[in-house]
Amino acid sequence: MTVIVTGVRFAVPGDYDAIAAVVDEWWGRPVLPSLPRLFLDHFHRTSFVAEGPGGGLAGFLVGLVSPSLPGEAYIHFVGVSPDVRAGGLGRRLYGRFFELARDRGCHVVRAITSPVNEASIAFHRRLGFTASPPVPGYNGPGNDLVTFSRPL
Ligand SMILES: CC(C)(COP(=O)(O)OP(=O)(O)OC[C@H]1O[C@@H](n2cnc3c(N)ncnc32)[C@H](O)[C@@H]1OP(=O)(O)O)[C@@H](O)C(=O)NCCC(=O)NCCS
Repeated sequence: MTVIVTGVRFAVPGDYDAIAAVVDEWWGRPVLPSLPRLFLDHFHRTSFVAEGPGGGLAGFLVGLVSPSLPGEAYIHFVGVSPDVRAGGLGRRLYGRFFELARDRGCHVVRAITSPVNEASIAFHRRLGFTASPPVPGYNGPGNDLVTFSRPL
């Protein structure tokens, strides 16, 4: 099935169910425990959804402007339907978030990913992020992660 993307809009809390239904399939591994409902309930005004023509989910970005670190923004999750990958939607979602973060006075955007997620590392580098080597125990014992940062 080909999904045509019609638009990118701000997320609403009710988007959670459609997102939760696809993330494990889109990532190819179980990632839903890292995206509980609270992210859509409390950060939907800094998150975006891309829709196909029938209103189906084509992609999403869950981000936030740090309430604790002045000038810092963070992208927690970005996902694009396998049907529309490599078509520029991930770049478009990031562009919308960069614009929002700049408007809120941010000077840096951060994100993290698993060292096994080579696609994510390649994607972030293309989007201008610097990637760290895997940080041992970043999220607790045995949970090494790559960290990204990009100035705005
Ligand atoms: C990572 C992901 C969001 C990329 O979305 P996308 O819409 O396919 O990306 P785009 O088409 O906008 O690509 C943007 C740039 O990244 C590059 N890129 C994207 N995926 C890539 C890959 N797998 N390998 C190498 N480069 C890649 C593109 O070549 C493009 O470069 P360019 O614009 O300079 O030509 C998508 O593959 C995905 O949803 N993956 C599963 C979920 C995931 O791992 N999310 C990230 C961790 S939270």
